[in-house]
Amino acid sequence: MDLFSNIDIEPARKRIAELTALIDQYNYEYYMNDRSLVSDFEFDKLLRELIDLERQYPELASPNSPTKRVGGEVNKSFKQVTHRFPMLSLGNTYSIEEIVDFESRTRKLLGDTEFSYTCELKYDGVAIGLTYRHGQLVQAVTRGNGAVGDDITTNARTIPTIPLRLHGDYPDDFEARGEVVYPFDEFEAFNRQREADGDEPFANPRNAASGSLKLQDSAECAKRKLQFCMYFMMLPSNADDPTGLLSTHYGRLQAALQMGFKVQPYIKECRNIEEIRAFIDYWDNARWSLPFAIDGIVIKVNQVKLWDSLGLTAKSPRWAIAYKFKAQQVSTPLESISFQVGRTGIITPVANMKPVWLGGTTVKRATLVNADFIEKMDIREGDSLLVEKGGEIIPKVVGIDMQKRQPGARPVPYITNCPECGARLVRADGEAGHYCPNQDGCPPQIVGRLEHFVSRKAMNIDNLGSERLEMLYSKGLVRDVADLYSLTREQLVGLESYDDDGLRRASIQDKGADNILNAIDKSKDVPFERVLFALGIRYVGEVGAKKLARYFKNIDAMMSASVEELAAVEDVGEKTATFIYDYLHDERHRQLIERLRKAGLKFTTANIHVSNVLNEKVFVVSGVFSRFSREEIKAHIEQHGGKVSSSISSKTDYVLAGEKMGPEKLKKAEKLGVPIISEDDYLKMVQE
Ligand code: IVH
Repeated sequence: MDLFSNIDIEPARKRIAELTALIDQYNYEYYMNDRSLVSDFEFDKLLRELIDLERQYPELASPNSPTKRVGGEVNKSFKQVTHRFPMLSLGNTYSIEEIVDFESRTRKLLGDTEFSYTCELKYDGVAIGLTYRHGQLVQAVTRGNGAVGDDITTNARTIPTIPLRLHGDYPDDFEARGEVVYPFDEFEAFNRQREADGDEPFANPRNAASGSLKLQDSAECAKRKLQFCMYFMMLPSNADDPTGLLSTHYGRLQAALQMGFKVQPYIKECRNIEEIRAFIDYWDNARWSLPFAIDGIVIKVNQVKLWDSLGLTAKSPRWAIAYKFKAQQVSTPLESISFQVGRTGIITPVANMKPVWLGGTTVKRATLVNADFIEKMDIREGDSLLVEKGGEIIPKVVGIDMQKRQPGARPVPYITNCPECGARLVRADGEAGHYCPNQDGCPPQIVGRLEHFVSRKAMNIDNLGSERLEMLYSKGLVRDVADLYSLTREQLVGLESYDDDGLRRASIQDKGADNILNAIDKSKDVPFERVLFALGIRYVGEVGAKKLARYFKNIDAMMSASVEELAAVEDVGEKTATFIYDYLHDERHRQLIERLRKAGLKFTTANIHVSNVLNEKVFVVSGVFSRFSREEIKAHIEQHGGKVSSSISSKTDYVLAGEKMGPEKLKKAEKLGVPIISEDDYLKMVQE
């Protein structure tokens, strides 16, 4: 180190401390108190300055710097961590009588001791434990199986309501437990974006929160806008109590609030069963007005010193219990059934019902899934449907209100022809639903395929939303995906379309036309695996397309493969293989692929040949790796002249084993005497 950098470092240290304090304060006010103290512009400027300084002086960058909120670090695998104190679950019940029993049992066990309860919300998210030492967040771990969880610290640091540094008085070493929830509005916006990108939406906020915490890219997690609701402070029994708040659960949560945690204000100290019951009844209705999901109420003995005397059952404490809300159900008349046509021609019946208030929203439509569902449920004309809303946002039809059935009501008829193009519907043997076979003439199928083709995970052609695609189709300019590649500027400029009320739906001007044509041109560089996904073959998703592309390397090999050969690809079952086979042997699809090939799209994998050091040696890859994903390491082997096989045999030269390698593979390798090498051994081998 030279003399000058030592001189420089002091002002930098000072400025970093100033910026950190300022940004922390702005964040705190914004996320905890809903108050913006500066403009976004000013905030970004300060953050940028801090990022730059930390880049210049990495030795001064704290792991809890507010710059970690935006993420950017990549988690290759999540380290398994044993909880210092197991994360217990709670006894839970749907029955109020059992809550009454719990209360009287607790009172009996505690005899003359004076005590109270706390009632609070049971957050419906993902449980995590946060360890703080000397006021700094040092580790975040998921509940996992209660004994061992995953280290998700990097992702947790991006959640604004998880304090990175604590304020005021705090115990020197403790764990804050709580639930990570995905607020409804953020979740819905995120799911809408997923659908627009051609991704499967998440079923509920809980699953989405869980998936987000396990993202490899923490910057992606930062975008998800998750929230942490603290519900428990885990302290060693001899912990100091400078504020005098730590002897009750209620006090601990107040202390946590002062330390900078987000603690929901909906917590009440209750003295008896009537107060507990009132709290439960209130929230059973009011829960839908909350910005996030809850699935019940948690009741805890408030006085911490009584917890030890009440003790534990096999897996949950005797001093707490959870009351779970039942799903809300209503009965409402079915008015009609409409039928939607998906991009693969699948018909989805949808119930149009008399609008009814259920769980915080008006419900008037719900899926009836397919013809099988309607038959099994035996839906008759004039029926009223039972609709339920559980933790999920999407209402479900769960049955028929038999008391309202009209005598002699006839089963609802199912359509025989496509509601969009009139073609006769097909129902293949063993299939639960119908589909419209008119793939070349049925508008929603054609536009649906176009939408899928241009979506982000497929060809990523920006600037072509549904309205514009519908316009291009209705004007006769684009009838299939290959037509996109012969569009001209003259055709596009000045296009306009209107809806039934005469309002403009879509239009394209000069700049828009240039952008569209550029994006279409750029899509010619999209790799084969995404082109394969973009074709929209039924059951071939993003991952399946990747595996097929890696396995066959080009479309010609796929076209000449038998169903059995297609099914040999990992995760491709017999049914999918048959669909792929039929798709590729349909003359119309062959012609389409030819036209796309002529337009310049990629139908082979790029074979990047880096070296020949692996000299045709055969590798079997198993387990999880720290530097590569499994697909990446397989590609790496091939780029260096090696071969990859899926099963161990006498021809295997090496088994490349990551963490959690399957025991069967291990046994087989040992039996055949195949050397098992680690990721590090492998890298050394390649470097040599
Ligand atoms: S207290 C020993 N309080 O519910 C006490 N848990 O089986 C441990 N949960 O997975 C938990 N909201 O993650 C507690 N206000 C709350 C809660 C809560 C949600 C979850 C918790 C656990 C499950 C209980």
